[in-house]
Amino acid sequence: MVYDQSIFSRSFRKKELRKVGCGALLICFLMGFTFRTISDQPLYSHVEIAKSIYNLSSSKSDAFEITGDIRIHGNSSTIFIASSPEGKLNSWTTKPYARKGDNYGMEYVRTWKIKNVPENLPDCSKHFSIPAIVFSTGGYCGNHFHDFTDMIIPLFLTARQFHGTVLFLIADKRSSWISKYRTLLEKLSNYDIIEIEKENQVMCFVRAIVGLKAHKELGIDPLQSPHYSMSEFRQFLRSTYSLDRQSVIDCRPIGCSSRPRMLIVSRKQNRFITNENEVANEARSLGFDVVVEETGSNVSVVARFVNSFDVMVGVHGAGLTNMVFLPENGVVVQIIPFGAELWAKPYFRLPAKDMKLRYLEYKVSLNESSLLGKYAVDSEVYRDPSAIYKKGFIGFHSVYLSNQNVTLNFCRFRKTLLKVMEIIQH
Ligand SMILES: *[C@@H]1O[C@H](CO)[C@@H](O)[C@H](O)[C@H]1NC(C)=O
Ligand SMILES: *[C@@H]1O[C@H](CO)[C@@H](O)[C@H](O)[C@H]1NC(C)=O
Ligand SMILES: *[C@@H]1O[C@H](CO)[C@@H](O)[C@H](O)[C@H]1NC(C)=O
Ligand SMILES: *[C@@H]1O[C@H](CO)[C@@H](O)[C@H](O)[C@H]1NC(C)=O
Ligand SMILES: *[C@@H]1O[C@H](CO)[C@@H](O)[C@H](O)[C@H]1NC(C)=O
Repeated sequence: MVYDQSIFSRSFRKKELRKVGCGALLICFLMGFTFRTISDQPLYSHVEIAKSIYNLSSSKSDAFEITGDIRIHGNSSTIFIASSPEGKLNSWTTKPYARKGDNYGMEYVRTWKIKNVPENLPDCSKHFSIPAIVFSTGGYCGNHFHDFTDMIIPLFLTARQFHGTVLFLIADKRSSWISKYRTLLEKLSNYDIIEIEKENQVMCFVRAIVGLKAHKELGIDPLQSPHYSMSEFRQFLRSTYSLDRQSVIDCRPIGCSSRPRMLIVSRKQNRFITNENEVANEARSLGFDVVVEETGSNVSVVARFVNSFDVMVGVHGAGLTNMVFLPENGVVVQIIPFGAELWAKPYFRLPAKDMKLRYLEYKVSLNESSLLGKYAVDSEVYRDPSAIYKKGFIGFHSVYLSNQNVTLNFCRFRKTLLKVMEIIQH
């Protein structure tokens, strides 16, 4: 119900916006109260809107919801808010990307100035009756995990409440990111995206959110506003990408109707499972229907592909983010490279649980790792990965994540596969 409300067709909305944006509204504005007596629902009640600023920031992002007289000058990355003369004079800066505190990623995000001032506001070039959301596609956009944790989930949390009647003002625009997620962006906003820094005109709004709400890594806290859950988010994805399977294969009470389908996520840059084909055969012999494949970048295709499986197995990495497309009760097996436990555990274990997926992890032992024999027998790399981690993430990443392949030991891994089968069947 919540997810199927396209009240007007997209083309109608666009036309309406163009008309409203470029003239009609200005006239309404000039006509003021006259307009309101004609219609019960003024398109633009500029004069009446009370000014308010809500700070929606969390430990993961900075976000501000503003109502009142808001004037956005994209080219100078400035947002002016008209305050009453007796109001407090204040200004602050913000970066509208949900990875607060990550200085490296945030370097690629432009700083916006929010100026709350009583006078000397720039004149409006265009008035908009619909609210706007300002967010950046800088940061780590393009990495599949970050796309979801820093952008898509926060965007869902921030924009869903508007049911499409919201304008996206994108800063630090990356065209490839926008084309990658176009289907999804069009589900959240009925209007064409505006590349905000290119705007030398002053765009005026009565309501805007600067930045995106964010709760936690690859997750949603239902106790926090707007009180959505990951189940609702996943339902939104299924509706957006027309995914057929809501739930995994039914195996009760008389056994599975067909062989449970298992996807082994193949990686082609690093962290290879060198014997992935043998692992696949082992899983087949235990009753799974197995496909070994690297997930691509076309989200519509990947979403449908992943949704067709009951089980996803993969070495820690961004590809596991695609678990968002698994049907309810799907099983995820994260293979954790030797020494990478510290890092790998929080990243997919908690999100999988939030998504109501069943989650297992398989810790690669040193004798299954390409690290064996690479360092002196008593090297700290083998003895104490956490000590390496403390020395810095770059070094840690280079030792355990960029330069390690795994060769799974069948006797050990078989136990995990049997556990998966047991979970699926009960
Ligand atoms: C908004 O809230 C955050 C977190 O509570 C705080 O750190 C920040 O200073 C606030 N920003 C402004 C402009 O008040
Ligand atoms: C933005 O402003 C700068 C000067 O402040 C100017 O050089 C540049 O051409 C402007 N960009 C656009 C797209 O208007
Ligand atoms: C993704 O694949 C679908 C189906 O093959 C295609 O229609 C669509 O254009 C592709 N999207 C992108 C962004 O390449
Ligand atoms: C590899 O290490 C694991 C865990 O330490 C152990 O159970 C297993 O027997 C070892 N396998 C071989 C072939 O040494
Ligand atoms: C991992 O395996 C791939 C493919 O066989 C190989 O190209 C790469 O060099 C290996 N990397 C390590 C660190 O062993």
